[in-house]
Amino acid sequence: MRLDKYLCETSFGTRSQVKALLKKGLVSVNGEQEKRPERKVDERSDTIFCGGKTAVYSEFTYLMLYKPAGVLTARSDRRERTVFDLIPADLRRNLSPVGRLDKDTEGLLLLTDDGALAHHLLSPRHHVDKRYFARVQGALREADITSFQEGLDIGDEHKTLPAKLEIQKSGIESEALVTLHEGRYHQVKRMFQAVGCEVIYLKRLSMGSLALDESLAPGEWRRLREEEIALLKKEEGARDGAGDAN
Ligand code: URA
Repeated sequence: MRLDKYLCETSFGTRSQVKALLKKGLVSVNGEQEKRPERKVDERSDTIFCGGKTAVYSEFTYLMLYKPAGVLTARSDRRERTVFDLIPADLRRNLSPVGRLDKDTEGLLLLTDDGALAHHLLSPRHHVDKRYFARVQGALREADITSFQEGLDIGDEHKTLPAKLEIQKSGIESEALVTLHEGRYHQVKRMFQAVGCEVIYLKRLSMGSLALDESLAPGEWRRLREEEIALLKKEEGARDGAGDAN
């Protein structure tokens, strides 16, 4: 593969950012400075440094999308725009969204072809935190914190698992942070409904250790950084280990 493509795929920036890094002499291949973007490298055997960091190649792709409101979490739709319309065609093929966000919900959506990691993040057994900011119609009370903590009847067979509600503002309209450890259909909206409030704005802020990059604008995406992938995988390993022990 070309060196500039390799550096893009290992999260050192866009093609033009990577070209600038090469021009500045910040890249080395097997210990030798390399300035040619077209230089062919072998992702399995070459050692590549960029700005003092190793460029570690991953067989998987991990993208963070700032999903805007008004877009479906689906591969394609005859009438509506989907999250895949926001991703370049050459990256779309094998990616799947990790969990769904409603059409009117915005925020963090991870897309990956790493099935094991996706499974870990979504599996109810692993209880990975999903954190949301919600604006609701109606007042939130201290008692609602307890209700979220104790689990709510939202019309399913089982009550919801304990969730954390942090009230930021209460009034005719209220604002709060909600942390869930599961992901049922319309869960946040149904939990607020159960305490008499209607969600009017919902944004996912994080999933496990992965937080939405607030420098992205709605509709923008970027590849995950090496350390973000490592942290998610570390959690995956740690929780699987803990699960096996119980
Ligand atoms: N809960 C909801 O109600 N909607 C979402 O999009 C995500 C969580």
